[in-house]
Amino acid sequence: HRQVSDIKIRQANEVETEKHTQAEKVQSKDSDLSEQIKSVTKDSHVRAENTELMLSYQRGNISLQQYKLLLCSLYEIYRALEEELDTNASHPGVAPIYFPQELARLESLEKDLEYFYGPNWRERVIVPAATHRYAQRLRKVGKENPHFLVAHAYTRYLGDLSGGQILGRITQKSLGLRSGEGLSFFSFPGVTSPNLFKQLYRSRMNSIELNEEEREGVLKEAVIAFECNIEVFDDIQSILIVTEDANTQHRQATHNGYISHGDAALAKT
Ligand code: HEM
Repeated sequence: HRQVSDIKIRQANEVETEKHTQAEKVQSKDSDLSEQIKSVTKDSHVRAENTELMLSYQRGNISLQQYKLLLCSLYEIYRALEEELDTNASHPGVAPIYFPQELARLESLEKDLEYFYGPNWRERVIVPAATHRYAQRLRKVGKENPHFLVAHAYTRYLGDLSGGQILGRITQKSLGLRSGEGLSFFSFPGVTSPNLFKQLYRSRMNSIELNEEEREGVLKEAVIAFECNIEVFDDIQSILIVTEDANTQHRQATHNGYISHGDAALAKT
């Protein structure tokens, strides 16, 4: 019952937000956390957009290998993020932006991993080094500075709600998936309008009480959050290049009669 009434309250909030969208736009102030966080991460956002992985998306061609590795990384990242948000749900810096019904991604990532890796996906997922570092950062922040979790939640969830719908369509098209198949990550059934929800989220961010030092900390953490994402994307690309090289070497070696079968990473025998 509590969940149903929570959803109703939130839906009412969204309607309220809709009514006030215009007013809020006019009223948004330079001193708002939502404005400051957007402005300090502006350059980082451009750099994130220009990583090879994101450029592949913008060119409209993402490969199955790229996408599977991205899913593995996102699983590890959201597992850490959502565990820390759950643990700190009643912390004053987290409670206003705690929206598990609407935003939680972990279960959808599990479904997608099962789709791509099969029922034994848990034994098959890999955790690239930069992804592991990102998850460690999230756990450290959750333990030592829960006030800074908002920076990480903002970076991931508002990004997902902004470009996510387009990325979902590109993934579907590039991989030739039937509608919805293996694409749960991109769908937010609890969010009727991403734009209105983003508005609500920003106003909740702005309601968090932070002293100067804490505010500075949150802004710095947001830049770090973007940096973590950039490193994860670069890491995924470099893993793929190594795999590609090994496959090419294997193909060449096979062609030259050096290797007849076995692991692609084997050198000449
Ligand atoms: C917002 C594009 C990648 C995080 C946005 C917006 C666009 C966009 C058009 C809306 C801007 C607005 O409402 O004013 C893209 C494209 C990407 C990309 C084309 C790459 C293909 C990323 C990545 C992250 C990210 C990798 C972080 C992991 C965000 C965030 C916002 C946002 C946090 C909300 C900004 C705010 O309203 O405060 N993005 N994005 N984006 N993006 Fe991205």
